[in-house]
Amino acid sequence: MHPDLEEILFTEEQLMNAVGELGTQLSQDYAGKNPLFICVLKGAVMFMADLVKRIDIPMEMDFMAISSYGASSKSSGVVRILKDLDRSVEGRDLVIVEDIIDTGLTLAYLKEILQHRRAKSVKVAALFDKPEGRQVDIVPDYKCFDVPNAFIVGYGLDYAEHYRNLPFVGVLKPDVYVG
Ligand code: XMP
Ligand code: MG
Repeated sequence: MHPDLEEILFTEEQLMNAVGELGTQLSQDYAGKNPLFICVLKGAVMFMADLVKRIDIPMEMDFMAISSYGASSKSSGVVRILKDLDRSVEGRDLVIVEDIIDTGLTLAYLKEILQHRRAKSVKVAALFDKPEGRQVDIVPDYKCFDVPNAFIVGYGLDYAEHYRNLPFVGVLKPDVYVG
């Protein structure tokens, strides 16, 4: 347990089991398709790394870094691309690998960009989903866990760039972020 955390939501073992099962599922669903897995940096980096180790079909990886315009903690839905993909996605079957879906605005925008680039298909694999936060009608095609409407950190997820390195996921103590 980390002193800045209120509680642990998912242990390393729980994360590994769920991510492994998702890898098996994706391997079945994308057999023969050579899918391109797109990791949304930086939050999804741990999830991506563990997920692709459990994919046993030919696949490729690429990385994208985006940031929301506007107020820092709330999604605006307008996304700025900080690092774009290396290759064209035209005609490809894409799997967007995201850490967490809250309002859904970021993902809706990202999906639109990739569809516009004439991908053959665009699906979403999210580690966490906060269904209560949703502002647009978007559901992940694949997800590991639903989480409550609290600020969570660890396993890639950060608060002010900290805690990404934790191998587990927990709820941050409110006094850590209210100062
Ligand atoms: P949307 O557009 O769905 O944005 O609201 C999702 C992005 O918001 C961030 N986010 C979180 N990051 N703990 C975090 O570390 C959280 O509890 C959390 N909720 C949302 C995250 O960057 C995600 O990609
Ligand atoms: Mg993120």
